[in-house]
Amino acid sequence: MDLFRTANDLRARLGNERSVALVPTMGNLHAGHLALVEAARKHGKCVVASIFVNRLQFDPNGDFDRYPRTLDNDCKLLERAGCNVVFAPDEREMYPVEQEMVVSPPVIAGMLEGEFRPGHFQGVATVVSKLFNIVSPQAAMFGKKDYQQLQVVRALVRQLNFPIEIVGVDTVREADGLAMSSRNGYLSGAERLEAVRLGQNLKRMRERIAAGEQDFEALARGATADLAAHGWKVDYISVRGRSRLQAPEANERELVIVAAAWLGKTRLIDNLEAARP
Ligand code: PAJ
Repeated sequence: MDLFRTANDLRARLGNERSVALVPTMGNLHAGHLALVEAARKHGKCVVASIFVNRLQFDPNGDFDRYPRTLDNDCKLLERAGCNVVFAPDEREMYPVEQEMVVSPPVIAGMLEGEFRPGHFQGVATVVSKLFNIVSPQAAMFGKKDYQQLQVVRALVRQLNFPIEIVGVDTVREADGLAMSSRNGYLSGAERLEAVRLGQNLKRMRERIAAGEQDFEALARGATADLAAHGWKVDYISVRGRSRLQAPEANERELVIVAAAWLGKTRLIDNLEAARP
């Protein structure tokens, strides 16, 4: 496995590769990221993982500075998972001058995460565009864990004509159901035990929807109340249509339940695809 710190060195290595699958990450890798690498192996002969903690997408006063940076261990995990090339630029390589040119994301980015994290998806769309231009992959893998991000990236390639197939990969969970996330490492022991409640509520909502419950607002209110009673601060819990992430049309069957909530100082997000009977 090769490690490159600059775009020029990376491009020299990729040369005439005709089948590149990209896995963009911010590092501190876990089994969720490795599932993306596994999917990438099926979509390209050469698997490139990028590791870059992208300042542009963090909230002011957010966790940019304390976000875990674990490059050596990440490289070991990637090599074992069958990754061929790692691209790990530093900030000066990615942003040699102030990044004035940015990608303005679509309407879908303004709701949910976008409402609570203004500027987040602009930062994501901008860095993902830069990575696409640097790597020129034929395919790129994104986790459903960040459901809205996946839909924003789909809109990005469609509307800006990137010739790249976007592959969505199912969320990998811990044995007790907690969605894997680098931010889980911020949780105290007691919080880690409590953290499963978010996914449990989503599962309950999915069961009720499958059983024919139509009052999605009431379901969301119930889940919010349960979490609040256990010390959580809920940003949102909402049932949406899968592709546009809008309130479901009356005849729309394919739904997704999306949620974000704070447990102490840690903000967790999760979602579950659901379907009406
Ligand atoms: P990061 O949070 O490191 O996640 C990298 C990729 O791994 C994303 O596509 C994310 O959805 C996926 N992922 C994270 N946890 C997962 C899990 N439990 N199961 C499956 N996939 C999971 O998302 C980002 O970085 C950044 O926004 C990035 C796209 C790299 C742009 O900076």
